[in-house]
Order: sequence, then structure tokens, then C-alpha cells
Amino acid sequence: MSSHFQVPLEKVPKSGMRTFLKIGDKTIVLFNIDTQFYAIDDSCPHQGASLYTGQLQGRSIQCCAHGLRFDVASGYLLNSTQLKVATYPVEVVSEQVFIVIDAGARHE
Ligand code: FES
Repeated sequence: MSSHFQVPLEKVPKSGMRTFLKIGDKTIVLFNIDTQFYAIDDSCPHQGASLYTGQLQGRSIQCCAHGLRFDVASGYLLNSTQLKVATYPVEVVSEQVFIVIDAGARHE
């Protein structure tokens, strides 16, 4: 079963920006890359460092802790399927942004 979390207007990032969201027990980073939204878990699947402060290049986020890079669209480690950060679908309806949280899925 999935639920749609409406992102408050002031938390919707402008193009090239990102915002940090706490949704229930999840901490999520919402990116706006070239007007396309991507939502990932803040916790790096390697050792749990925050990805929010990572360096973004195109669609890849580099973790500050050990430098691993993840595709924010797929969640996978670049050039590998060994590690994956949880990703969440983002829907835009009438200029309102929703993050879809699937309660039954592990997102890993
Ligand atoms: S905790 Fe992110 S690369 Fe190690």
C-alpha cells in the first residue's frame, strides 16, 4: 500500500537545488535537476552517512564520507548494481509535488 506525501510548497526545491524532508521515520532528500524531481533516502547504503550534503554532478550524488557515487534516478552505485540507495517516485499534480512512499516495499 502506498501513500502520497505532499511536499510543502516552501520545501519544493527550485531547479538545481535540493531539500531535506522527514516523512514518518524516513529522511529523504528531494532533488530538482533540470526541473525533474528525484527523491532518495538520505542514508548512504554503504555506512549510513548523510547524502544530503553530497556533491551533485548531473544525476549522480557523491557521498562525502567515502566518495561513492549514486545515480539519484535509479539509486544504484554508478557502474554497478552492488549497492543501491532507496528511491521514491515523485509525482507532480497541478504544480503540487508528492513523494510516493510504498509502505510494503523495502526500497533497497
Ligand atoms: S558512507 Fe557513503 S560512501 Fe561510505
